Amino acid sequence: MRKIYHIPGRPPLYCNSFLIITQAGNGIIIDPDAPAEEYNRLLEKENARLTHILLTHGHHDHIGSLKQLHQPGVQLWMNPGDRVMYSSRMDAVRTFGPASADLYTQLPDGSLGFEPDGLFEDGGVLHIDEVEFTTLFTPGHTKGSTCILCDGVMFSGDTLFCGDIGRTDLPGGSSDDMRSSLNKLYRLVPDDVDVLPGHEGFSNMKQEKETNPYLCSCRGRE
Ligand SMILES: [Fe+2]
Repeated sequence: MRKIYHIPGRPPLYCNSFLIITQAGNGIIIDPDAPAEEYNRLLEKENARLTHILLTHGHHDHIGSLKQLHQPGVQLWMNPGDRVMYSSRMDAVRTFGPASADLYTQLPDGSLGFEPDGLFEDGGVLHIDEVEFTTLFTPGHTKGSTCILCDGVMFSGDTLFCGDIGRTDLPGGSSDDMRSSLNKLYRLVPDDVDVLPGHEGFSNMKQEKETNPYLCSCRGRE
């Protein structure tokens, strides 16, 4: 991996979005919520081209420029559990209720109505150039929440925050699922992995296992 850029997404939620540049000059975006021009400016600076977009989950505050960036030659990968958020407004209404579905129609580029190119597998590995992404399914915040690991870093989306966890009261959320997912992270993710959550500050697994009350409670259950 040549570089990781942190690019804040749109107000008011300012999702943490990331752009990874591989040694071969290919670009991978995690959660494309910043204006498309910001990614394009950095890709140009790195003499790189966008080839992949990976989603930690399907919420509207993580995909603001998805449709604009998902051009031919760019592969969109996500968890099948959140795929329904993208198929049609009808499906979104059916699954999440009208209020939630409306959030998607308010996106700057109206991101409903298209399909992913690839679907993550739990524990699966996706190779993009020299970078090896491992995807762990961590339902709880949404059905299709995924933690994406590569090169000693975990993009934890809205599952694990610095000192906190994501909400489980939104459509598709489940506190039981979240508890199982946190146990899984506690068990599988080594202490020296840096944690880059979907919102606010960064952390590492050691710190989270020692100080995050939701992860501390997994101690002894692994
Ligand atoms: Fe979310």
